[in-house]
Amino acid sequence: MAVKKILRIGHPLLLGQSAPVTAFDAAALDTLVDDLLDTMKSRGGVGISAPQIGVSRRVIVFGAANSQRYPDMRPMPITVLINPEIEQTDNEIESDWEGCLSIPGMRGLVPRYRYIRYHGFDRRGKEIKQEAEGFHARVIQHELDHLDGILYPQRIENMCMFGFEQELNEYWR
Ligand code: NI
Repeated sequence: MAVKKILRIGHPLLLGQSAPVTAFDAAALDTLVDDLLDTMKSRGGVGISAPQIGVSRRVIVFGAANSQRYPDMRPMPITVLINPEIEQTDNEIESDWEGCLSIPGMRGLVPRYRYIRYHGFDRRGKEIKQEAEGFHARVIQHELDHLDGILYPQRIENMCMFGFEQELNEYWR
């Protein structure tokens, strides 16, 4: 278990496609999952993906009881999701402010599906099937994007709605 350095935008590993996990219930996977949980918690994040700590594997973790980074969020159970898949259960799209531990100090207004169903596995290989909505669904879509090399600025429709958190809080939020 360790807090890892988080790669920042500009690092090529953040732009790659991550490979599926094939060995469950394994020491290497346990280490990766624990590192992700420790690193996310240490930074007050609500989600993180394996490529952000330099491991190109399809593993994400998300959730927090509360977050300094997102004070308005409702509690979200801490979840480890391996080889995740998502589908929208409704076509409604909503835009909201998003940040990323790999893009410190910045926020952008990003459109995402409001209602999703997600599927994947826990670290022992047990299947997980759940639904999520709103900010919870947003976080999962954001983390899944990381596994395909997509960072949230690529999803912003109006680049005027991208900037430093401090200025956005002062003038826009
Ligand atoms: Ni991110």
